[in-house]
Amino acid sequence: MTKILGGKTAVVFGVANKRSIAWAITERLAEAGAKVALSYQSQRLEQNVLELASMIDEDPWVAPCDVTSDDQIRSFFHYLRSKTSRIDILLHSIAYAPREALDGSFLDTTRDAFQVAMDVSVYSLVAIAREAAPMFVEGGSIITMSFYGAQKVFPHYNVMGVAKAALEATVRYLAYDLGPKRVRVNAISAGPVNTLAARGISGFTEMLNRYAELAPMGRSCNQDEIAQTALFLASGGASAITGQTIFVDGGYEIMGMR
Ligand SMILES: NC(=O)c1ccc[n+]([C@@H]2O[C@H](COP(=O)([O-])OP(=O)(O)OC[C@H]3O[C@@H](n4cnc5c(N)ncnc54)[C@H](O)[C@@H]3O)[C@@H](O)[C@H]2O)c1
Repeated sequence: MTKILGGKTAVVFGVANKRSIAWAITERLAEAGAKVALSYQSQRLEQNVLELASMIDEDPWVAPCDVTSDDQIRSFFHYLRSKTSRIDILLHSIAYAPREALDGSFLDTTRDAFQVAMDVSVYSLVAIAREAAPMFVEGGSIITMSFYGAQKVFPHYNVMGVAKAALEATVRYLAYDLGPKRVRVNAISAGPVNTLAARGISGFTEMLNRYAELAPMGRSCNQDEIAQTALFLASGGASAITGQTIFVDGGYEIMGMR
């Protein structure tokens, strides 16, 4: 039987370890037949990402890319073009803010922490989408990861909430620019899941408990449920969906009385 992403190429930003949301998505994309290229942030993660990549592919395409560096973004895409002339799917699953900005009061956010959070978590999507755009020769799908802190206040999420709001707006503007090329751009707004990035947020366990208590489904979500939604967004089944933020959160977002 033909696989739904057979013959497609996906590029993934944001795998750190096997708990990463990006890794769960990579596994689903590969299982659906896509050739997946992986980037990693720094040498510290190289071995980890290479080992994971070789679990799904005998000839893995893996290269470094710290998204705060235009040179590294250019080099990564140069590497990619040496392997393939086209891509169909681009996953952006990256966020960072200095730890002290994810605790205490939002009022205390420094200029530096604000700029770092925006650069890594938002601008990076614009930068990689621009490099990728000419390689989407037959349309495609760009997916990024958001959180409900973009729209409502979650204590301690602070500057990351502001960054996610900007990310969701970025999705809409990119969707407008890339629509004529048949490239769709969407965000998945996931409920809390236990990953490396999540552990950096003060009060994360309390957040998980709230979801268990209040979400209609009595829980948040897991990496694979996010991955299945990403697979849908990457596939032809979502061919008229663009500019959207799709919640995968056990229904928490619909609740008024919390
Ligand atoms: N875990 C959750 O509860 C949750 C919920 C909603 C949304 N998200 C979002 O999902 C995405 C992935 O996070 P995760 O939970 O899988 O954690 P993770 O720590 O596994 O992934 C974060 C990734 O960002 C990468 N990164 C950070 N700075 C970078 C830089 N300068 N250059 C390149 N890469 C960089 C890290 O290397 C890592 O791979 C993030 O955007 C996060 O905000 C997570």
